[in-house]
Formats: sequence, C-alpha cells, structure tokens
Amino acid sequence: MSRQNIRNFCIIAHIDHGKSTLADRFLELTGTVEERKMKKQVLDQMDLERERGITIKLQPARMKYKLTENRKLKVESKNKTLNSELYTLNLIDTPGHVDFSYEVSRSLAAVEGAILLVDATQGIQAQTLANLYLALEQDLVIIPVINKIDMPNAMPEEVAKEISELIGVEEKEIIKISAKTGENVETVLREVVEKIPAPQGNSEKPARALIFDSYFDSYKGAVAQVRIVDGKISKGDKIYFLGEKIDSEIIELGIMKPELVKTEFLEAGDIGYIATGLKEVSKCRVGDTVTKAVSSKYQVSSDSDIYNVKNIEPLPGYQEVKPVVFASMYPVEGDDYPELRDALEKLKLNDASLSFEPESSSALGRGFRCGFLGMLHLEIVSERLSREYNMNLVITTPSVSYQVLKRNGKEITIFSPADLPDPSEIEEIREPWVKLEVVLPKDKIGAIMKLAENSRAIYKSADYLSQDRTILAYEAPLINIIVDFYDNLKSVSSGFASLNYELIGFRKEDLIKVDILVGGERVEAFSKIVPRSESYEDGKRIVEKLKDAIPRQNFAVALQAAISGKIIARETIRPFRKDVTAKLYGGDVSRKRKLLEKQKKGKKKMKSFGKVDIPQEAFLSVLKKK
Ligand code: GTP
Repeated sequence: MSRQNIRNFCIIAHIDHGKSTLADRFLELTGTVEERKMKKQVLDQMDLERERGITIKLQPARMKYKLTENRKLKVESKNKTLNSELYTLNLIDTPGHVDFSYEVSRSLAAVEGAILLVDATQGIQAQTLANLYLALEQDLVIIPVINKIDMPNAMPEEVAKEISELIGVEEKEIIKISAKTGENVETVLREVVEKIPAPQGNSEKPARALIFDSYFDSYKGAVAQVRIVDGKISKGDKIYFLGEKIDSEIIELGIMKPELVKTEFLEAGDIGYIATGLKEVSKCRVGDTVTKAVSSKYQVSSDSDIYNVKNIEPLPGYQEVKPVVFASMYPVEGDDYPELRDALEKLKLNDASLSFEPESSSALGRGFRCGFLGMLHLEIVSERLSREYNMNLVITTPSVSYQVLKRNGKEITIFSPADLPDPSEIEEIREPWVKLEVVLPKDKIGAIMKLAENSRAIYKSADYLSQDRTILAYEAPLINIIVDFYDNLKSVSSGFASLNYELIGFRKEDLIKVDILVGGERVEAFSKIVPRSESYEDGKRIVEKLKDAIPRQNFAVALQAAISGKIIARETIRPFRKDVTAKLYGGDVSRKRKLLEKQKKGKKKMKSFGKVDIPQEAFLSVLKKK
C-alpha cells in the first residue's frame, strides 16, 4: 500500500477517560478483530491490565479502513494525492497513569497524530495536559474528542469550551462520542484519515527504524517494535543496531493486529515488529536505531565498516527514564534468590524502566534493590512477580534517593535510608523535589491547599482552565507527593482532582533518620528519612502503625523508634498464640496436621526478624501518614 494511505496515530488521555474502550470500537468498526474474538479492552493484553482496568503497556494495532464514497470525494478534493479509498491505520493505545508516561512519550515519537480523548463527565485532567504537551512537543496533529457523552452527568458543552480554550480549536471541531455505545466513533476514524498527515520518509534511502518498545519471546528472542522511518527491511536481511553496535539476523518480521502477523517486509511509514533472535533484550534497546546491514567485501576496521552503516545517522532516541522510587525485594525463602534474579531479568525484558541490583542484608539475606517510576509501578512489578513468577517476596519500605554531602567533601547518592552515613559524617542531605500540577474544581481549592501545606509543598501559581476549574502549581518534595498527597487527593476532592509531577532536582533539607527496633533489634528495612521537625511525631506514628500491622507472637514484642540511638517512642505487642487446633477435641490426628500445615502456610508471607515474624503489609504501613 502506498505510504500516502497510511496513518499512524495514538490515543492519549487521562487515566480512565476511555482509550482502551475507544480502541475496541475502532477494532470492531474496521473488522480487525473478529466479533467472536472481541472482548473488552482487547489491547490490554496482560491479565493484570484487564482485571484492574488499567493500561500499563503501550500496544500497537493495525487496521484497514475504507472511506465511504462521498467522504472519499471530499477528501480527494482537499488532497489531490489521495488515490485510494483504503487506508492502513496504525494505532498505538497508551497508558494514562503518571507512572507510565514514558510509554506515552515513546508512542508519540512513532506517530504523526494523536487523538486527545477527554471524559465528558470529568473534563480536562492533569494527564490530559501532560500528554497533550508531550504530543505538541513532537509537533503532532491533535484530534480533540470528548468521550462518554452517553453518561447522565456528561457535560459535553462545558468540556468542549475547556478544550477549545486550551488548544485553540473551535468548539464545533471537537468530536463528541460515546466509546461505549459507538456513537460518532466513525467520525473520529474519518478525521484521522483527513487530518493526520501520511508518514514522511523515503523507501529508497538506507533503512532506519526506531525501536519504541521491545519484549522477550522464548522462541523468537528479543522482539523490537519499530517505526520504519526510512528505507525497507525485508525478511532474510541482516540488521545492525546503530547504538549498541551489534548485528543480528531477522527471525521474522511483520505487523501487530494486535496479534503478530508475518509480512515479507516493512518499509518507510510502517509500524511493525522485528524478531531478532537476540538472547538479551537489553541489546534490543528502546530508542536505538535499526538499520539494514550490507556486508562489505573490502578490508575493514570496525563493525560499522563491515556492514556499510558508518554513514547512517541514528534517529533521535529517547531520554532514558530514571527510577524515582526504590525498594528492596527479598525472597521469603532464602533459597529462592536465584529464581528471583531470573524473574527480575525476565520482567525487565518487558519493562525497560525497571532497574535492580543485588544487595544483601544481615536480617533479610540476599535480595535486590529495585528502582521504579512510582508507587503504582512498584505495585504492578511486585504483583507480576507474584502472579507470573510465583515469587513470595518481602518488599522493604519504599524510599526516594538522597544525595549526601559528607564532611570529607565526598558526595554520595543513597537509595535506602539504611545506607545513610553516621550523622557525624554528614554535612548536608538533599532530597528530590518535583514540580506539581493539580487540576481541580474551584470549590476544592481550600481543601487541596491544606493538603499541599501538610505535604511541605510550596505554592507557585494558579491558572484557570474554565470558569470553575483551576490548575494549581506547586513545588514539593517527591516523597510527600507519591505517598500522602497522591493517596489523599482523591478523597479530599471526592475524585474530582488529578495531579501530574516531574522531577526538578535535589534540594537541601534538615533531614534525619528514624530507626525502628523490633524486640530490641534494629530492622533496617523500616528505617525512614524524615524532616527533623517531624521526626518525633513520625517515630511515634510508625510504632503505633506497626503495632497494628505485626500480628501477636508467642511472646511480648517491644516496638521502639530511635533517633541516633536515643529511643523516642515505644509500643508493645502483647503475646498471643493462635491455636488453630484448640477447637478440635478428640484425636483426629490427620485433621490436626492439616490445620497446622495451613497455619504454617498462612505464615509464609512473613519474614522472620530475629524471633519476630513480620508480614509484608507492615513495610508499607511505615510509609503512610494516615
Ligand atoms: P487507562 O488505560 O487505565 O488509562 O484507561 P482507559 O483510558 O483505557 O479507559 P478504559 O477504556 O479502560 O475506560 C475506563 C472506564 O470507562 C471503563 O469502565 C469503560 O467501560 C468506561 N467507558 C469508556 N468509554 C465510555 C463511554 O463512552 N461511556 C461510558 N458510559 N463509559 C465508558
């Protein structure tokens, strides 16, 4: 098919505004997914995504779309180069949650246009803005669409006004749809064809393909999802990765419908996949440029000479994402360490933003310090480790990273409060700060401002989105935003406010470490770095929370909070033994054994610290204020 008839686009929106549902309607309308195979949110391929109703991974799908006759005439009169009524539409569905905005930015670099989808009951929200800015940075054509007009509380007119003011389009140009009922959905497809330009690029030029995602398949090795920018890559070609400076065969290539469909070649303008057979997915790096390797007969000095790729300019890649939340993962059974390493390595093949390195602790044994893009990312990774890899883990209290300037002039970065040097060695501690944007209804300003104040946020500005909705801008310490602020925003605003944040750097703060002692022994995994002014209150709160989170043991357990060795708070967990066999009179031995086994199993999710068993929930409870 001629490149003129290809349209590459993605759907961007705030979380839950209906991207996956709209994608379902597109797939149905174009007959891409057979009716009998159609299920809700087809493009959310992971079980976890479907169960929780959230998109985590970007997902491409190719569709064929036929313009109706009179529409075709209209388009042709506008654009003389349109020569067929059949179009190839390459759609990329993207996640909406702030933790996964990296997936959005990668998708945007592979397309020419974006459908900006806004929920008619919610209006513009924080990720609507954040994703719109990302799309505008890439110079994409934006097609504004209002979704969920079937809902009784929909306010399409008000929302159209907001969008019109924000992006400067006329209200009547904004398409109002229901992705649920399908109303007006075809209009969106037509607009995609009419407004989004066909991809540029030259099939005659040397091949250049941008890797926008990759994953591992046990049969096909590392599979790159690519946008072919120039040239043509065919089955049987040898390919060369310009960034990694390695070559590879092509096991297979093709398109995603969303299921993989083999093709003979991919050329400029196409979105497709290349299965490389590479055993390490890290070699198939997102953002790298793939080109065709043509062996040279001449004497050569380096790989790029061998493959005649020396003069091929790599495509602009992606900024590497840096993890912002860190936590350690330890297998409950020490023997499972190699399995955990294996599982993390495999997960990383599918999630390049996950980082981990081995670590060991006297109490917890061998495990990994892992870096995540946010709390939801952490949650998803631990859930996937447990479901897909059957791992039984203890995850320590999450933390941000800190820069520590020592008295001897050395600067170090620590990723766990346990690594904080002795206070006598510390000159200053810096913590990560973010720029925070909150979109909210005007009547919630007071409540949000109070919440911000309690989160150490500094007010910067207020802007009006419409008559009754506002954007508040703050600067705040990251740790307070990802935990307290994020958790409380929804309840304080009755679900009508949303936030977005980005890192702006590290700032000096008067911080100290609160240690927690369980049964007289310090449990490093509970240590927390807090502002000195809040340390007493925090220490007290942590031991109170742990008292609830740690089940009673056979003996009394003292919980203490300490700062520099000085105890500042104490609670005691009273002894108790849950005798599961107490209600069994008489001597059914096998039944008794069964019950005891069950009790043992129930204990499994706990890790022993000295003599005390601590369940997973306890580690998270330390973090939260409420
Ligand atoms: P994330 O990927 O997690 O950001 O969500 P999403 O934008 O893909 O939203 P999704 O398609 O999962 O829809 C969110 C919820 O809104 C689901 O419960 C949908 O059934 C519902 N929904 C989507 N579109 C419509 C619509 O037009 N009308 C109504 N009534 N509900 C809709």
